[in-house]
Amino acid sequence: MLDITFAKPALPEKGALALLLGEGENPTGLGAAADAATAGAISRALTAASFKGKKNETVTILAPGAGLSRVVVVGVGKREEADGRATEEAGGTAAAALSTEAAAVLEVGPAAPARAAEAALGAVLRAWRFDKYRTTEKAEDKPKLARLVVAHDDATKARAAWVPLKGVAEGVFLARELVAEPPNVLNPVEMAERCRTLAKLGLEVEILGPKEMKKLGFGALLGVAQGSANEPRMVVMQWHGASGAGGHGAGGTAAKGKRAAKAAKPVAFIGKGVTFDTGGISLKPAAGMEDMKWDMAGAGTVVGLMAALAGRKAKVDAVGIVGLVENMPSGTAQRPGDVVKTYSGQTVEVLNTDAEGRLVLADVLWYCQERFEPAFMVDLATLTGAIVISLGHENAGLFANDDDLAQKLIAAGQATGEGVWRMPLGEAYDKMLKSDIADMKNIGGRPGGAVTAAQFLQRFVNGKPWAHLDIAGTAWSSKDKPCVPKGATAFGVRLLDRLVAEHHEKG
Ligand code: BES
Ligand code: MN
Ligand code: ZN
Repeated sequence: MLDITFAKPALPEKGALALLLGEGENPTGLGAAADAATAGAISRALTAASFKGKKNETVTILAPGAGLSRVVVVGVGKREEADGRATEEAGGTAAAALSTEAAAVLEVGPAAPARAAEAALGAVLRAWRFDKYRTTEKAEDKPKLARLVVAHDDATKARAAWVPLKGVAEGVFLARELVAEPPNVLNPVEMAERCRTLAKLGLEVEILGPKEMKKLGFGALLGVAQGSANEPRMVVMQWHGASGAGGHGAGGTAAKGKRAAKAAKPVAFIGKGVTFDTGGISLKPAAGMEDMKWDMAGAGTVVGLMAALAGRKAKVDAVGIVGLVENMPSGTAQRPGDVVKTYSGQTVEVLNTDAEGRLVLADVLWYCQERFEPAFMVDLATLTGAIVISLGHENAGLFANDDDLAQKLIAAGQATGEGVWRMPLGEAYDKMLKSDIADMKNIGGRPGGAVTAAQFLQRFVNGKPWAHLDIAGTAWSSKDKPCVPKGATAFGVRLLDRLVAEHHEKG
């Protein structure tokens, strides 16, 4: 992670400076000092560039004098409207413009200390890069930004505001890394092993293999897994931040048996973890199939979220469960037409083996509600191509049987920039899943494909409060965004962290 420190404003003797400026503002503080030290080079450049201060508008001034290598000015829009989100984006945009500098000082302008921490968050989120498989890239071609000093008069308050944000950033990075990993490396077994390492954050981690799942009766999940040489796993992660030792500061280790006698119901997050989706016997076309390495993004997000909650010691009891399988065609693969028995007891006619995510989630959702009786469940899944047709890459599809939960998710989406758009559920859609020989079939036809997939899931939540996020359009980005470099987005980590922070933490 980009190294962040906070300090009182002081003009650096060399290196780079980044300034966030509101609409119609002139540089103040460090900006004014730099402008004076460079005989007005900064204000001249802003005038010459017709800089307005609009959101993410950027002007870069090279070698303006006074020893500075570069001054980057980024707009935050109208200052009175420059909220956390706008500030993060400006911080991210500044980090991108500073990528050839090793170190920089950033000043947010006349703003509260929390804004300084938010700018830092945007910068670290944008500066992240998945580098581990590049062995021949020349140093001069690599992004260099390694240290950012965030200047604010109240550096102490800014630093304190940064502590939880740093925990969230770590969770985002974990999710991005899992999603970015190639599918030969990250199979279900490997992903489960990476989940196991989260025990060091104080999470309680359990891993179930095919034997345990067979004993439980996970016929739907195991049917998807049976064509692969890689064994499936289900990982159950628990964070006892409200009832256990995790909530009482320092170590945050999960102290079994030390929990408060009457714990509130936990919140639960469930992720689709198909580490590669070939479609199975209903094989996908070759073009673009490599994208299906990120068919485990829902699970990656749940793992990243659990790490974020533990990392910032959130005062909540949370459960994260991921169903991990590889969907392959082979002599042992399930066939179109197979009937499987789910953990709930309901039977499913598998008419298309490429509609596998819902089969995995069916067993995990039922298990989750039965074992944990959570306050609510939110599942995340790269579930359908149809949601990409509906909403593009701007919003995830939100389906919910609980209006209150849906509203809270929509608000959290607006605050974090991880937007969700509510889609319908209803009996007419549910009827489209009627099978001729089993309790349901696993596809409902092309029309309303994202909705019938959600209807399928709803049959496995047993009437409990639930929301489903179809993240097929938002888990991966083909272009850079202010706080998200192109590639794995970790969509949902910040959204759900915000949901928890706003509504489910003990005061
Ligand atoms: N993983 C895919 C959905 C997907 C598509 C994710 C594009 C990301 C980008 C899912 O398992 C799938 O194959 N869904 C099918 C369902 C169909 C067979 C009913 C689809 O959307 O075509
Ligand atoms: Mn599929
Ligand atoms: Zn899939």
